Amino acid sequence: MIMKWGYVVVLIITVLLGPGFTYADEEESMKPVPKAYAGKHMPKGWWMDAKVIAEGKKIFETTHLEFDYKGKKEQVKDGCSTCHAIDPAKDRPKQRGARDFRSAEKMHQFSDSYWFWRISEGVPKTKMPAWKDKLSEEERWKVIAYEHTWSHGNQPAEHAHKEIKVLVEP
Ligand code: HEC
Repeated sequence: MIMKWGYVVVLIITVLLGPGFTYADEEESMKPVPKAYAGKHMPKGWWMDAKVIAEGKKIFETTHLEFDYKGKKEQVKDGCSTCHAIDPAKDRPKQRGARDFRSAEKMHQFSDSYWFWRISEGVPKTKMPAWKDKLSEEERWKVIAYEHTWSHGNQPAEHAHKEIKVLVEP
């Protein structure tokens, strides 16, 4: 019975919010990369390097971070996986709205500089924190190499897609 009412409440909320409600990433087009990051690139050979990818996985799953979100302290205990790991029951990232790295359609558009910029500085007004004070540049690249395998069936692959968007701030 309680379950049933739960569904009714969710249904009402969904109807009230209506079609205007979308996840942040659904309609957002990709932003240009700030000049300071435009020259940052994946070290040679790292997309395919199993050791680098394994190290990236470890950082992804174990890094601790405290950050401010809307004036409150948030604790990240299990690295990126705290929000980006897939919740098997819901088949989406644990944190609603967090990027789903399995999406080849989306991830094939990321230039390496864009990817690095977003992790370094975070995404304003969202729960995506900045990592530049916590992870070294090398560590950030390792995490990216690992994340990249998600859109390639968990296998190493070159990040060479015709869809890559290279946009730099004027
Ligand atoms: C506290 C939750 C949280 C943690 C921890 C977190 N993220 Fe995110 N991340 C998000 C959210 C939410 C978004 C979506 C932001 C948006 O709407 O563009 C996101 C987006 C991203 C994006 C895509 C940015 C874009 O422009 O589309 C990348 C890449 C990313 N995260 C990488 C990481 C990495 C790497 C880590 C760990 C070092 C990490 N995230 C940890 C919440 C988190």
